[in-house]
Amino acid sequence: MIKPQRGMDSIAPYVPGKPIQEVERELGITDIIKLASNENPFGPSPKAVEGVLEALNSVNFYPDGQSYELRQALARHLSVPPDWIIVGNGADGVILETCMAYLDEESEVITSEHSFPMYDIFSQAMRAKVVKVPTKNYGLDLKAMRQTISPKTSLVFVCNPNNPTGTLLRKEEVQEFMEDFPEEVMVVFDEAYYEFAQSEDFPDTIGYLREGRENVLVLRTFSKAYGIAGLRLGYGIGHPQVIATLNKIKEPFAVNLLAQAAGIKALEDQEFVRRTVEAINREKEFLYREFERLELSYVRSYTNFVLVEVKGDAKLVMERLLSRGVIVRPCGGYKLPGHLRITVGMREQNQRLIRALEEVLRETQ
Ligand SMILES: Cc1ncc(COP(=O)(O)O)c(C=O)c1O
Repeated sequence: MIKPQRGMDSIAPYVPGKPIQEVERELGITDIIKLASNENPFGPSPKAVEGVLEALNSVNFYPDGQSYELRQALARHLSVPPDWIIVGNGADGVILETCMAYLDEESEVITSEHSFPMYDIFSQAMRAKVVKVPTKNYGLDLKAMRQTISPKTSLVFVCNPNNPTGTLLRKEEVQEFMEDFPEEVMVVFDEAYYEFAQSEDFPDTIGYLREGRENVLVLRTFSKAYGIAGLRLGYGIGHPQVIATLNKIKEPFAVNLLAQAAGIKALEDQEFVRRTVEAINREKEFLYREFERLELSYVRSYTNFVLVEVKGDAKLVMERLLSRGVIVRPCGGYKLPGHLRITVGMREQNQRLIRALEEVLRETQ
């Protein structure tokens, strides 16, 4: 038998939220709602769609491997030089490139016990050792993560706000974490849910780069607030030398032509982002009220999903919800058994979820 490289032995595969079509095929039901992958329920940014339509007739060409125009647009948007930016096939693509460039079998990676699984998967693929630090009240324990850094540590993944718990690390905590932070360790701030967390308290992580630090990489995505998860577009902001290193191993055409066109237009559509965030915040409050009525405890979220504790077997609850056409995410894989992660939908979807959840809880408890 052909054996894969040793790093593959320890990898538990990522289980994505079930696609609607798969549930239709498997259960023979229609009218399904997906609240499992933190997508934008209000659709894609209409300007992004315009961008895709304009670019469609050019797909006989390879995309611009440097994503020149998109990086210019992002640079203007973020007020940083374009050579501080790398765009990727989703933020996932940039996480992969970072692991490829900075890890080997000698390295240790620090992440949180309950955080985004791709950090583990890509680190293990590079044969690095992943060290998981317990959370505190569902949030990342930055003090403990800082204390865990050893001479072997190469990368620290700080997911803020955190997936799957939705918790936020505030400016002061991050500032303390960054004081005397070892120069030879890279800290990756994964801000995939940044747009939902905007507040005075949000740490200015790009500011660390402006101060001249080399060891900070900030990740963001167009998959959530901009609503173009299906196109796969994310980006990293880092020191130009780090970006140059990542570019060495980047696939030549990792970011497709339609995604680049959509990204440029989506950035002009801040009104769409604003309306999305406003609606999600309103709907989160609706869900909180309903969870309280059902006497379920939940974690207040700075994202477009909510972690809720369903007393008992969360997988069974998920399966029963599925049979009623509602897809949610059980969190056993995130080491949070008894919890569901539920993407905030539109009002009718949220109402349907709550009706189904109420029925299922009555059946199972
Ligand atoms: C914390 C976090 N980082 C990164 C990603 C990946 O984002 P993208 O769709 O840009 O690959 C996700 C997607 O769910 C996420 O939750």
